[in-house]
Amino acid sequence: MGFCPGCGSDAALVEVGPAPRAAASRAARVMPLAEAGRDEPARRPTGLAEVDRVLGGGLVPGATVLVGGEPGVGKSTLLLQVAAGLAASGGRALLASAEESPGQVALRASRLGLSQAGVLLASERDVDAIVAAADQVRPDLLVVDSVQTVAAAEVGGAPGGVAQVREAAARLVHFSKETGVPVALVGHVTKDGAIAGPRLLEHMVDVVLYLEGDVERGLRVLRSLKNRFGATHQVGLFEMGDGGLKEVPDPSGWLVVGWRGGVPGSVVFPAVVGRRPLLVEVQALVSKDGVAQPRRSVRGLELARVHQVLAVLERHAHFSFAARDVYVSVVGGLQVRDPGADLPVAIALVSSLLGEPLPATAAWGEVGLTGEVRAVAYGERRAAEVARLGVEVAVGPTGNGQDRIDRALARAGLHPRVPERPSRRA
Ligand code: TYD
Ligand code: MG
Repeated sequence: MGFCPGCGSDAALVEVGPAPRAAASRAARVMPLAEAGRDEPARRPTGLAEVDRVLGGGLVPGATVLVGGEPGVGKSTLLLQVAAGLAASGGRALLASAEESPGQVALRASRLGLSQAGVLLASERDVDAIVAAADQVRPDLLVVDSVQTVAAAEVGGAPGGVAQVREAAARLVHFSKETGVPVALVGHVTKDGAIAGPRLLEHMVDVVLYLEGDVERGLRVLRSLKNRFGATHQVGLFEMGDGGLKEVPDPSGWLVVGWRGGVPGSVVFPAVVGRRPLLVEVQALVSKDGVAQPRRSVRGLELARVHQVLAVLERHAHFSFAARDVYVSVVGGLQVRDPGADLPVAIALVSSLLGEPLPATAAWGEVGLTGEVRAVAYGERRAAEVARLGVEVAVGPTGNGQDRIDRALARAGLHPRVPERPSRRA
């Protein structure tokens, strides 16, 4: 039609020609699985121990790694440090920046003290030009920053659009597989958490890493969501400071430094992130009674789980939040997806509701719909971490499987205020 019948715009439709189909001229080779040789990938350490941990030991030849994260979280910083680490160990790293000018990259490098690290730089938007340069240089790592700003020629649509991003990534993945050069793609995450469309690139690449954290605060968590060459759910922990990203040796101590408890609505949760215990502070604020349209605002936790905890508290522990605003957040910008956070959320909520300060308290346990409190994985590791940091009160699920939310709250020193019964005259 040449124009969009919906909006009338004449540049909205992109023609996509059918791929030529060749008739199959040969059959795929079939072999018994037992005879297939095993590929143990040769790994090259990046020089950043936390990155290597998340990658499963280092960079694998021919692997493509997608590094996602919100704008400003530190993706470019991280990859510059990785590139410099490789260069320092005698490797060759090529940084293709489609987003920043050479001057901007040089400024970051000088802030990080990496100007002399020997990283190669190309400031280029055209993906084929990047591939051609990488083909000449044959680096040990090609970084493309970012996949949303590189352009693939002959493909219609704007850079950053679905067709462009998919094609640019496909060409880079193809180059990586052909030559064995590992490629790291930077991908900005949109507000709803997707990288340029729903999971558009995640199936194309070998490894998907997300860098997350509060852009305002220092802690950064590098997580692996997919890894064809190693375990997923590994995490690396960093602190963003003046010299870039630094490894955090004692993350628990770092997160709860200065935390003493003693205020209503603050509980420590020993989360387990990628098998590592990590203490985080869960805070709750419950407003006064009588709000006409109560808000539920949740940061760092799943909203649905907080709703569920509120419903259980109402039904099984006789605390009502119905006409009150409720705010719950995890301090430090960490995203907690651990079911064990239910109990600390419940305790923080009730503590704030009652205005009752708690001594330094840690809690963990999954709260079920019938009011039961269930044990969660790594109970011993959580208890040990809490003890190591000297938290006064630890409330975990009792071992016999009969634990209830009201009893767990009582162990934290929280009891429902029994409504006074109207006195009955004889
Ligand atoms: P950047 O790596 O540019 O983020 P992204 O590529 O994910 O968009 O880093 C952005 C922020 O990091 C920026 O706001 C400044 C901060 N920063 C530091 O705090 N210390 C540093 O040494 C550097 C280089 C950046
Ligand atoms: Mg960047």
